[in-house]
Amino acid sequence: MNLQDLIALKEKALNEAQTAADAAALEAVRIAYLGRKGKLPEIMQELRNVSPEERPMFGKTANELKNELTDIIKAKQSSFSDGRAAAAGFDLTQPGQWQGLGTRHPITQITDRITQIFQTLGFTVADGPDVETVWNNFDALNTPADHPSRDEQDTFYLKNGDLMRCHTSPVQVRYMMAHKPPVRIISPGRCYRRDTPDATHSANFHQVEGLFVDEHVSLADLKGTLSYFARELMGPNVKVRFRPHFFPFTEPSVEVDFTCHVCQGKGCRVCKNSGWIEILGAGMVDPNVFSAVGYDSSTLSGFAFGMGIERITMILYGIHDIRNLYENDVRFLSQF
Ligand code: DAH
Repeated sequence: MNLQDLIALKEKALNEAQTAADAAALEAVRIAYLGRKGKLPEIMQELRNVSPEERPMFGKTANELKNELTDIIKAKQSSFSDGRAAAAGFDLTQPGQWQGLGTRHPITQITDRITQIFQTLGFTVADGPDVETVWNNFDALNTPADHPSRDEQDTFYLKNGDLMRCHTSPVQVRYMMAHKPPVRIISPGRCYRRDTPDATHSANFHQVEGLFVDEHVSLADLKGTLSYFARELMGPNVKVRFRPHFFPFTEPSVEVDFTCHVCQGKGCRVCKNSGWIEILGAGMVDPNVFSAVGYDSSTLSGFAFGMGIERITMILYGIHDIRNLYENDVRFLSQF
């Protein structure tokens, strides 16, 4: 091919593009010239064989062919689609319709907020599966064989003997088995219980688990940490109360109440006139749990805690029925 041929080819190509009658014809022109196996790659190959005097002009013309053809094709493509849009009754110059941004689900918002508060204290997020072994969910957590929570009435068992975890506490077990102390983790996640759904119960809900293990960790550390958490979550004026309680996996165990966010502790309908709202369970890790995971309880101590995210979300946002959180009614969700 010499320069003369190329100039003729360019004319032909531009003409074909200009006269293409519809989008399919235009696409055929594009493929014939600009496609991977089209004329243009062929021409570029040809460049080597062109005489040195003609070569600069040949290269320039080839480039013009490419650029001009591309421009024509682009312009025609949009005129074809404009035409189609006009035929279908669309005015492409109209502004688009704003579809609105979604919001994060309230459960996600509160989970993130709780997680962030503990992250500022150096806790890292740990994860565990929803399907657990009986050992991780109960045995390693020092839960006696006849403990009522093991009952089939309360826990979902799978055919293979595993279960749907009924709390996030098994993440403690997994984490300690896989990591050396010190440990500082927070673990949000789904839990499952055989509860009949009503305004305050759901068979599927969320918890956040926390675990701190090191040498010389004391109940004072637990109180300090959870009091800080309370102030960060509820504001600087919240008061915190620790009541003796029992959990198999901690000794001693406590339940932790915050002053009622509605009456600030004066007593109202929401807190049943007590001034307090129960928020979480906690305690010092039981030595039996340390033995189960292979930690030395003669040198180590730690505290753990667990809280229900739905409960806290409902308290903070004044939601009265837990089912609102699962129905995904946009009129409800868009308020948060
Ligand atoms: N697992 C407990 C529950 O589901 C919550 C809990 C209480 C977790 C005390 C803990 C803890 O780690 O120390 O009700």
